[in-house]
Amino acid sequence: MSINRAFQRVLDLKQTPQPLTKTTVEGEIPSWLNGDFYRNGPGLFGVGETRFAHWFDGLAMLHKFEIRSGAVQYQSRYIESKTSAAILEEGVFSYPEFATDPCKSIFKKLQSVFIPTQSDNPKVNVTRIEDRLMALGETRFQIEFDAATLQSKGVYSYGVKQTQAAMTTAHPYVEDSKMYNMVLKYGPFNSYNIVEYDAHTSITRSLCSIPTQSPSYIHSIGMSEKYFILLEYPFSVRSIDFVLFDRPFIQNFTWNSNRSTRIWIVDRKSQKVIFKDALKPFFSFHFINAYDTDGGVTFDIIQYPDAGIIDSFYLKNIVDFENNLAKGKLHRYDVDLAGGKWKSRQLSEISIELASKDNRYQYKGNYRYVYGMGLHNDDGKDFYNQLVKVDLSSGDAYCWFEEDCYPGEPVFVPSPQSQSDDEGVLLSILLTVSGSESSSDLLLLDAKDMREIARVRLPESILPGFHGFFDPAR
Ligand SMILES: [Fe+2]
Repeated sequence: MSINRAFQRVLDLKQTPQPLTKTTVEGEIPSWLNGDFYRNGPGLFGVGETRFAHWFDGLAMLHKFEIRSGAVQYQSRYIESKTSAAILEEGVFSYPEFATDPCKSIFKKLQSVFIPTQSDNPKVNVTRIEDRLMALGETRFQIEFDAATLQSKGVYSYGVKQTQAAMTTAHPYVEDSKMYNMVLKYGPFNSYNIVEYDAHTSITRSLCSIPTQSPSYIHSIGMSEKYFILLEYPFSVRSIDFVLFDRPFIQNFTWNSNRSTRIWIVDRKSQKVIFKDALKPFFSFHFINAYDTDGGVTFDIIQYPDAGIIDSFYLKNIVDFENNLAKGKLHRYDVDLAGGKWKSRQLSEISIELASKDNRYQYKGNYRYVYGMGLHNDDGKDFYNQLVKVDLSSGDAYCWFEEDCYPGEPVFVPSPQSQSDDEGVLLSILLTVSGSESSSDLLLLDAKDMREIARVRLPESILPGFHGFFDPAR
């Protein structure tokens, strides 16, 4: 095993919450780019003697970049929760995370399943619904926060009862005051539930319930104007195993290559399943887009042959540059609902993850570009170290790469007169690890040619994080 010591040192960092601070900008930020860029992700990977095991385990920290007239102010804050209070104020790790459990007896483990004691540490994503900003995670606890201070304002949980074990996705779809997502309820009976959350009433309505014997780990669902798309991968769990085995959440899931990936398509209007089928086994975290076609629906995802990528994200594997990080590839599925058939194809050879697009093209088939982070080396022996732009019409890819640099999810912001989905800028938090030094910047690229146009110096190194969004100035 070849441990990259410099990267290990970075993962040992505990980030310090930053008050709103002016930054130094190198290069030139376009004068039209005015708004707030939010991002969520881990701010630390350990407390006391406890080291978190996995990239998906860290303590949630929000980052905000206020971009106005070419200047940038930056602030960060740990999300206030029971989880963060235990860690930051008491120095103890009390709640189970994705791949790390606190030490406890079997009895307490039982409690955590059937009288759920889940982490309220939404570290994965950020979104706006009406005037409410939400930090999003995969347990049922989502946290609203204040735009100016990033201070937590309250918890919502998709209407899931305290006595119900449940997981959700951190990738809801927002349409006006409504937010659509999937809630997995598990226990003696398991079901995937497509839900609609209303920000005006804070009421969650279940639209469609799909029973399952062995729930799968599902990170996102697809949605077009007419349909919901649910993919159930053969990376699944018998929910009794949560009780029988005293091990962290994700370690109860096993890959079964003899099983299929199953697809359900739900009509949004009738709220009924109108298509289901078994596909060859594969795994995916992220849907990128879905759009209705004449008699069907098409969706694009990042696909892996199996769920081994989750193992690659254990911290011990991230710092092991001999570990081969599996390469996610863009795939397109065309479903002919009238004919009851589907076909799929790979859209590009380039490796890609944490992908984004011009969100003006949500539900639209004429989008052409997907952006993401990827692996510069063909052998995959590193962590994500380049940004990529994929032309879906040709499969061609264009990259931004710089030695020792680890960029995060690129978020696309269109320019005011933008006529295509690459006329704008990409925002990405960059971690640079060189020798014993590390630093972070907000990187701005021209999406047209993937050329660097500005770099915003940040006061400390920021751990590799997950998702964010740009909130235009109003
Ligand atoms: Fe995600």
